[in-house]
Amino acid sequence: MSCPPRALYDVPAPAKLNLFLHITGRRPNGYHLLQSVFMLIDWADTLHLERRPGGHISREDLNTDAPALPEHDLVVRAAQALQQATGCTWGAHIALDKRIPQEAGMGGGSSDAASCLLALNQLWGLHLPRATLMALGLRLGADVPFFLGGQHAWVEGIGEQLQPLALPTARFVVLKPPTGVATPQIFQHPSLERDCPVADMHDFLTLDASTLYQYGHNSLQAVAQQLCPDIGWGLHWLQQQGLPGRMTGSGSALFAPLPDGADLDLGTLRPGWQAKICRNLSAHPLAG
Ligand code: C5P
Repeated sequence: MSCPPRALYDVPAPAKLNLFLHITGRRPNGYHLLQSVFMLIDWADTLHLERRPGGHISREDLNTDAPALPEHDLVVRAAQALQQATGCTWGAHIALDKRIPQEAGMGGGSSDAASCLLALNQLWGLHLPRATLMALGLRLGADVPFFLGGQHAWVEGIGEQLQPLALPTARFVVLKPPTGVATPQIFQHPSLERDCPVADMHDFLTLDASTLYQYGHNSLQAVAQQLCPDIGWGLHWLQQQGLPGRMTGSGSALFAPLPDGADLDLGTLRPGWQAKICRNLSAHPLAG
């Protein structure tokens, strides 16, 4: 068996968009049952990892402009969880180039954790199967197993039941307001829609490219909009551009499919808003 590498640089961690997100119930532990399609896009963070002796995990932000939110710690927690699960005595230094907006519903923190688990599995010579990493990842966050799965997916349960699916190539405009909402605040809100009828994946799969990206809605959007008025402003802005906007995950990022040749007037966005034209990926860059 070949020797594990001492370092892995330029490890990508792509973002996701939730094409729709329906809350269909709640587990006794408070976690919500959902149905969603998670789609990988080409807006990504980058990790650089070096194996170190002594077990210590250190983390560095290469993009110093990024605010130090607790979400960052998920990478360190992922590394520590892998050490605990395997008894591995190696440590690591992890440098993170954070590009995906935070408090966006784009899964940046979860994707970083997933890419960190995949990279350390290799750097530390652990050879854990992907299914074991996914079980470990679920304990870190409900979105982590999706990123480890490596493909667009129909997602159920609390985020751990994944059925890979193919999606037609498409472009999207993604907007991030300067403000955000904490995910637990939305999920705990009394007026959250929690009784969405259960959808059938096969109905979704029969749709063509022109209707697929309009399917369903986001159950978290109404509450998020109440808590974060910028979301309403962004949806209105998209509507003015002739685009059917929607929130991804628990927000506050919004997106809309972009027809070929569509011309956007980004200059009319308010100061502090981020806008990016993204494409969906055919698969996670680390898949396989
Ligand atoms: O697992 P994650 O850290 O992404 O979730 C953040 C919070 O969102 C959880 O603490 C929980 O309150 C809520 N949540 C939920 N049901 C889900 C996913 C998240 O209630 N399926």
